[in-house]
Amino acid sequence: MKKKQGLLWMLLNLIVVEGVHSCRITVASSVIQFGSPLSASCDCPHLRSSKSVVVWKLDKDFVPCNQTSDVQMSTCPLYFPNFNKTTGVLQCYLRRNDVLQLVDQTNIKAGYPPSPATNISCLMFISQNIVNCTWQLQRDSLLEENVTLSAFRSKDECETPSSAEYICNPPKGIHFCIIQRKYFNNFDDLAVRVTVQNKIGSAPSSLLCLKPLFEVKVDPIIIDDAVPHNDCVRLQWTYGKKANFLTAMRCQLHYKMATEIEWTKPIEIPVDVKTADQCGLLAATKYDFQVRCIRKFLTGQWSEWGPTRSMITAELAPAEKLESWWRTLESTQNGSLKIQLMWKKLEKNKANADHVWYIVKSSSDLHETNNILCNTTNLNCTIVLHEAMKSVFIWTYNNAGVSPVKEMTFPARIGTPVSKMLVSSNNDTSLQVMWDPPSSAEGYLLEWYKCTELPDCEMNWKTEQKGSMSSILQDIEPFQRYSVRLYPLYQDCIGMARETDAYSKEGAPDYSPEIRLLTVSKSQAVVQWDPIPVQKSNGFITNYTVFWTDTSGKENSSTVNGSTATYNITDLIPSTTYQVFLMSSTSGGSVNGTALMLHTANLGLKVGSGLLSQILPTVKWES
Ligand SMILES: *[C@@H]1O[C@H](CO)[C@@H](O)[C@H](O)[C@H]1NC(C)=O
Ligand SMILES: *[C@@H]1O[C@H](CO)[C@@H](O)[C@H](O)[C@H]1NC(C)=O
Ligand SMILES: *[C@@H]1O[C@H](CO)[C@@H](O)[C@H](O)[C@H]1NC(C)=O
Ligand SMILES: *[C@@H]1O[C@H](CO)[C@@H](O)[C@H](O)[C@H]1NC(C)=O
Ligand SMILES: *[C@@H]1O[C@H](CO)[C@@H](O)[C@H](O)[C@H]1NC(C)=O
Ligand SMILES: *[C@@H]1O[C@H](CO)[C@@H](O)[C@H](O)[C@H]1NC(C)=O
Ligand SMILES: *[C@@H]1O[C@H](CO)[C@@H](O)[C@H](O)[C@H]1NC(C)=O
Ligand SMILES: *[C@@H]1O[C@H](CO)[C@@H](O)[C@H](O)[C@H]1NC(C)=O
Ligand SMILES: *[C@@H]1O[C@H](CO)[C@@H](O)[C@H](O)[C@H]1NC(C)=O
Ligand SMILES: *[C@@H]1O[C@H](CO)[C@@H](O)[C@H](O)[C@H]1NC(C)=O
Ligand SMILES: *[C@@H]1O[C@H](CO)[C@@H](O)[C@H](O)[C@H]1NC(C)=O
Ligand SMILES: *[C@@H]1O[C@H](CO)[C@@H](O)[C@H](O)[C@H]1NC(C)=O
Repeated sequence: MKKKQGLLWMLLNLIVVEGVHSCRITVASSVIQFGSPLSASCDCPHLRSSKSVVVWKLDKDFVPCNQTSDVQMSTCPLYFPNFNKTTGVLQCYLRRNDVLQLVDQTNIKAGYPPSPATNISCLMFISQNIVNCTWQLQRDSLLEENVTLSAFRSKDECETPSSAEYICNPPKGIHFCIIQRKYFNNFDDLAVRVTVQNKIGSAPSSLLCLKPLFEVKVDPIIIDDAVPHNDCVRLQWTYGKKANFLTAMRCQLHYKMATEIEWTKPIEIPVDVKTADQCGLLAATKYDFQVRCIRKFLTGQWSEWGPTRSMITAELAPAEKLESWWRTLESTQNGSLKIQLMWKKLEKNKANADHVWYIVKSSSDLHETNNILCNTTNLNCTIVLHEAMKSVFIWTYNNAGVSPVKEMTFPARIGTPVSKMLVSSNNDTSLQVMWDPPSSAEGYLLEWYKCTELPDCEMNWKTEQKGSMSSILQDIEPFQRYSVRLYPLYQDCIGMARETDAYSKEGAPDYSPEIRLLTVSKSQAVVQWDPIPVQKSNGFITNYTVFWTDTSGKENSSTVNGSTATYNITDLIPSTTYQVFLMSSTSGGSVNGTALMLHTANLGLKVGSGLLSQILPTVKWES
C-alpha cells in the first residue's frame, strides 16, 4: 500500500516539475537600504492556468503574499514595508495538492549608503619624494565598498585641473594612497578627493586643496654634533636627507640623563636655527638628546624624534666643602696625637666628576707643596698632630679644578653630653637612635662600629641637624653587636659621647658553654663556665639556666642572670649520679650545652672532689 502511494506522489511531482523552469523571482534590486520597502513577485508564465499556488519563504519562515483576492495561480506579490534583515534568502515555491516545489530563489542584501571618508590628510616625504594621503572611514555600510582617491594638479586653488587625474583604488583595509612625484609639483596646488561607493550610493569627500611643500614631514632629525662646554652642550643638526633647502622650519629639543627614562618637556628652538646650547646640565654626566622639526606654521607634521645623540658633559671643579670628622687613635709620649681624619664622599652633583682625590695640608696655602699631610682617593687619612698645629686644611680635587678649602680643628670633647639616649632595632638591618636634645647643640654626630672588630674597627659616622631627636643607622648586620656613640656639637666644643651597645636582630648563641665542676659534696655541687664571647653570642645573654637530672630522670633547673658564671646546686641526693648541662639564652633564642656527669659523695664520707664523667665514662641509668 505505502509503496503504491509513494509512486503516485513521485508521479505528481514529475508533473509539477514539468513547467517550473519558467518560474522567476523578480525584485527591483537585490541590494537595498536597510529598513526600506522590498517588493518581489514570482512569475511562472507556463503555469498560469494550473491549479498551483505560489508560496514564499524568507530564510526559514513562510511569508504571506500581499494579495488575497486572486487565490488562483498568480505572481503572488510580496511586500515588506521595511526590510530589516542584513541578508536573507527569498524562496518561491509552488504548492499543488499539498506538495511544495521550490522553483526559484534569490539573495537579498540590505545595508546603508556609504559615508564619506573623514580626516583626509596628505603629507609630503621629501627624501622619498612622495605625497602620502590618508583618511578614515566612518560607519560600516554592511555592503561591499570600494574607495577611490582622485588627485589633480591645479594653478588656481583647485578650481580647474592642470593635469590628468591620478586615480588610486587601494585594496580593502588600506586607508592610504601614495601619490608619486610626477603627479604633483612642490608649490602647485594639489586637489585630492576620496570617494566611497557601494551598491546603494556614492559618497565623495569634500575637496582637499594643498601645496605639497607645506605638508612636509621631514625625516627624523640627526644631530651631527654635540660639544660640551661648561655646564652646557652645543648641538647642531640638519633637516634630514634632501631637505636642507627647506626654510621656515621650527624645531624642538628634548633630553634626559642617560640613566633616566623620562625625557624633558620639548624645548623650543627659534625658527630656522639648527643649533642649540642647552645649559644647566650636571658635570661629567652622560646625557641623551633628540631633536624633531616641523614647518614654522605647523602645517604638515612633526618629524619623528631623531636618533638619540649621547654625550658626557665636561667636568667642573668640585663645588662644596667636605663634611668631615676625626678620631684620636693614640697620643704619643712627646705630646703629639695620631688622628684619623674622615670625610664623606661628595654627591655626584657636587663632585662634578667621576674621579676626585683629596689633599690635606697643615697650611691653608693651596700652592705650597712642602706641607702635604695626605694625598689620597680614600675617605680617610691618618696624621700626626703636633702640639703647635691647631688645624688642618682639606681640598677636593678633580681634573677640572679644586674645591673651596675645609678647615678642620680638633676641639676637646668635654661639653655636656645628651641626657638620655636609646638605641633599638629599627628592622633587621637598621638601628634607631633616639635622644633628648640639649637646647644649645648646633648638631649631632653619631659614630657606630661592630664591637667584634675592636680595637681596629672600621668606624661609621653620620651627622644630624640641629634640633634632631632621632636617627636611623643603615647597613647594620643582624646578630652583630654594635656600639653607638652620640656627640652633641656645640658652637665652640664637642660634647662628651654617650655610648650604647645594640643589635638590630638577636639570635640564639652559637653554643652554650661547657660546665666545669668546682666542688661536689653529699648534697651540693658548685659548677662554673666561661662566658660566651661577643663574636659567638648573637645577642645579649639575658640568662643561663642550669639543668640537673638524676638517674630516675627527675629534672631540676635554675636560672641565673647573664653576668653570672657559677652556680651552687643544692639539695642533691648523696651517692647519686647527675647529668648537668647549661642553657644559654638571648632574647633571640636559647641553646643547650653538652652534659656533664657528676656523682655525689656517699653518706658519711668526706669527699674533696667528685667523680667526673671523664673518669667514669659509663654510667648505668635505672630504668
Ligand atoms: C500591498 O502592497 C502595496 C504596495 O505594493 C501596499 O501599498 C499595500 O499596503 C500592501 N497591502 C498589504 C495588505 O500589505
Ligand atoms: C523586523 O520586521 C518584522 C516584520 O516587519 C518584525 O516582526 C520584527 O519585529 C522586526 N525586527 C526588528 C528587530 O525590528
Ligand atoms: C579624525 O582625527 C582626529 C585626530 O586625529 C581624531 O580625534 C578623530 O577621531 C578622527 N575622526 C574620525 C572620524 O576618525
Ligand atoms: C602612508 O601613511 C600610512 C598611514 O600613516 C602608513 O601606514 C604608510 O606606511 C605610509 N606609506 C608610506 C609609503 O610611507
Ligand atoms: C566601485 O563600486 C561601484 C558601485 O558598486 C562601481 O560602480 C564602480 O565601478 C566600482 N569601482 C571600482 C573601481 O571598482
Ligand atoms: C712625636 O713622636 C712621633 C712618634 O711617636 C713622631 O712621629 C713625631 O715626629 C714626634 N713629634 C715630634 C714633634 O717630635
Ligand atoms: C697627589 O697624588 C697624585 C697621584 O699620585 C699626583 O699625581 C699629584 O701630583 C699629587 N698632588 C700633589 C699636590 O702632590
Ligand atoms: C629597614 O629600614 C630601613 C630604614 O627605614 C629601610 O631603608 C630598609 O629598606 C629596611 N629594610 C628592610 C629589609 O625592611
Ligand atoms: C679608610 O679608607 C679605606 C679605603 O677607603 C678603607 O678601606 C678603610 O676601612 C677606611 N678606614 C676607616 C677606619 O674608616
Ligand atoms: C652552696 O650552698 C650551700 C647551702 O646554701 C652552702 O652551705 C655552701 O657554702 C655553698 N657553697 C658555695 C661554694 O658557695
Ligand atoms: C631568660 O631569658 C629569656 C630570653 O630573654 C627570657 O625569655 C626568659 O624569661 C628568661 N628567664 C628568666 C627566668 O629570667
Ligand atoms: C634545653 O633543654 C631543656 C631541658 O631538657 C629543654 O626544656 C629546652 O627546650 C632545651 N632548649 C633547647 C633550645 O633545645
